Order: sequence, then C-alpha cells, then structure tokens
Amino acid sequence: MSLLPAAEFARRRQALMNMMGDDAIAILPAAPHYKRNRDTEYRYRQDSDFYYLTGFPEPEAVICLIPGRPQGEFVMFCRERDREMEIWNGYRAGPEGVVNDFGADDAFPITDIDDIIPGLIEGRERVFVSMGAQPVFDQRLMGWVNTIRAKARAGAHAPGEFMMLDHLLHDLRLFKSADELKIMRKAATISARAHVRAMQLSRPGLYEYELEAEILHEFLRNGCPAPAYNSIVGSGANACILHYVENNKAMRDGDLVLIDAGGELDHYAADITRTFPVNGKFSPEQKAIYQLVLDSQHAAIATVKPGAHWNAPHEAVIDVLVEGLLKLGLLTGTKEECIEQASYRQFFMHRTGHWLGMDVHDVGDYKIDNNWRELEPGMVMTVEPGLYIAPDCESVDPKWRGIGVRIEDDVLVTKTGHEVLTHAAPKTVDDIEALMAR
Ligand code: GLY
Ligand code: MN
Ligand code: MN
Repeated sequence: MSLLPAAEFARRRQALMNMMGDDAIAILPAAPHYKRNRDTEYRYRQDSDFYYLTGFPEPEAVICLIPGRPQGEFVMFCRERDREMEIWNGYRAGPEGVVNDFGADDAFPITDIDDIIPGLIEGRERVFVSMGAQPVFDQRLMGWVNTIRAKARAGAHAPGEFMMLDHLLHDLRLFKSADELKIMRKAATISARAHVRAMQLSRPGLYEYELEAEILHEFLRNGCPAPAYNSIVGSGANACILHYVENNKAMRDGDLVLIDAGGELDHYAADITRTFPVNGKFSPEQKAIYQLVLDSQHAAIATVKPGAHWNAPHEAVIDVLVEGLLKLGLLTGTKEECIEQASYRQFFMHRTGHWLGMDVHDVGDYKIDNNWRELEPGMVMTVEPGLYIAPDCESVDPKWRGIGVRIEDDVLVTKTGHEVLTHAAPKTVDDIEALMAR
C-alpha cells in the first residue's frame, strides 16, 4: 500500500476530472511487464501517471476517469483473484479489492475490457490519453473506437477529439503536496545517508561496485526497494563519462570518485551526486575544481525562490564557473566571450537541473509560451553543476586532466525561498575530509 492517504489519490483524480470537462474520458494503462531474459522479468514498477492517480501497484490494469458518469466516475479493469496464480506470483486485489481498497466506483476483470470499454467511451466527445507512451495500447484504443464507429447507424457516437493527457496531468504532478514532500524528504534523507556510508567506507583498492553495493544496502535496508536510476560510481577519469554505469574499476589512491545515486521510495525519487577523494584528502588541483563547482552550486541554489525563472540557477552556475575557469587558466579570453561562445561547454556540457518527483527526470513543462517558466512553491528540482576535464584534453595543463566533479542536490521551492531536501549529504571540503578521517 502507498504511504499516501487514499484521500490524496481521490483529490488528484478529482482535480484532473475538473480540468477535463464533463464530456470527456481519460484512459490510462498500467505499465507492462518487461522481459529481462528467458523466463525472467525486470522487477515490476508501476507507470508513474497510473500510480499517481490510483496508488495501484499491479500490472495488467486500465483505468477510466469519466466525469459526471452517474454510475461512478472512476472505473478500473484489473486481474481477477486467482488462487493458483497467487500461489506462484503473489496477492492480487481483484475487482472487489480495487473497489474496497483503491476507491474505484466500478471494477471489472481485465479480460472483459473489449466488451465493456467501448460503452464507456461512447457518447464522450473527448478522449484524454498519453498517445505514443504505449503504442500497443494506442492500437487497442483505436480498435475500441472502431467498435463504436461500426455501430454508428444504430446511433452510436464516436469521440471527436483525442487529447494528450500529459499537459493536464503533468502540471498536477509538478506541484508536490505536503504528503508527497514527506515521502520525498524521506527518500532524500535515506539517499544522503547512503552517500555518507560510501564516503566512510571508501579506500584505495576497493572496486567501484563495492561502493555501489554499500549504497544499495543503505537504500534497501531503509525501505527503498530500488534505486531511482542506475547508480553511477566513477573513479578517476571515469567521472568524466556522464552516464558511466559499468562501475567495475579498482579505485586508485589520489583519485576522486563521483557517485550519482538516489533511492526510490513509494515511487518518488531522490537524485544526489557527491564527489570525494578515494583516500579522504583532496589534492590542491582537485580541491580547486571541487570548490569552484561547489561555489557555483551555492550561487545557483540561492536563486531558487518563487518568481525566479527556471533558467536562473543555470545562469548563476555559468557565471561562477566561467569566472573561476578563467582564474585557474582553464579558459582564455574575456568572461563575456566565454559565455557568448559557450567555450565552457568543453568542461560543463549538461544543464544545471531538471524537475524531480515520481520520475527522476520528472514531468512538467520548462517553458510556457516559449519563456522559461517561473518557479512556484511545491516544485522540486535538482541543482547539479559539474566540471569534467577529459583525460586527453590537450588545451589544459596536464595537472588538471582527468578530474571530474559533480555536486547535485534536490531543492524544493517554498513560499519564501527554498529547502534543500538532500542537506544530510556533506559537501564542503572540510566536512567531507572530516567525515572520511573518522
Ligand atoms: N541521475 C540522473 C541525473 O542526475 O540527471
Ligand atoms: Mn539529476
Ligand atoms: Mn543525478
């Protein structure tokens, strides 16, 4: 069962239906199972949109939200109870459980969907669906619409408009409620502790996967069933590979290690990056680059408040990084030239953050009418500047080569400013060195 109260799911469905209007229906399928290899599947994870509206964790289900339907607005199709299957694969709620425990007004076996759903769609003018998300499901939907069309001479009316559900639903998901934030804070704290554990146990000669194991251990033992994304543990120059996930090299004395890892709790993600010396002590070059990234992150986080626009943290990062890179002699020219020509991109090639929520790269528009969106209370974002000096970067003094640093925190926009959800993961040079010296 979800950590969220049932009333929260009901409130979300109502909010969505209010936006859809009375002559509409929204149809959402559960996530499919994905095969890993012969006879085994990836661990099942419900689709975020589906879970957001239901809290229902099972596959092979479809929901319909039908505003104003007299017999009930929330209809679910799901697997039936089945003693034999439940012995093999675990409990199923079944249609009765879906009504009793998940707030459905009406529920039917998923095997009956082809017979029942055309009747629910019929007479509705607009159908809200996430087109393209599950192409096989889109085809089935067209099949149901054709079933209605075939009955046109008997007076059946097929819908006239198909609308992307995403715009309405994803705008709801962008703003986190007090109860959602409780879960996100917990996911953030568990994940921060995992980074602390990795710092405490790091030493030269360990393999990157040994730190990955410590991180996973901390997630699992605190109730995060899985990481929110594949953990990155990149030591030395591996830190310069942005999506490095092999995590299979021995960590060397004198190198930094970059860990980007966050746990998922009740379908909410944390997303933290910390970079620290494998042996617990920064070299002067590592410290210079690290401090510059940290200064840029502080400047970026300081911009996060209601009314600031989405790109403000990124602009703050560029400003601080370029100035620092010029001082260190890693860039040449004037600050204005470096920004205009984006010469910093050889060292900082990604953006400063993204929305965070049920998906690690969460839903929600970044621009409205082609302008950067203004931040509002309840939005959660990451702030994650980095500098990555490739090991073969000939334009810089060799002493800098192969240093990769990213520092990433999860930041909530509050009424008066911001709250750093991941504050429990140390990040100043002194705090990291002190922790690792203990
Ligand atoms: N861990 C994915 C990201 O930082 O965007
Ligand atoms: Mn991130
Ligand atoms: Mn990350």
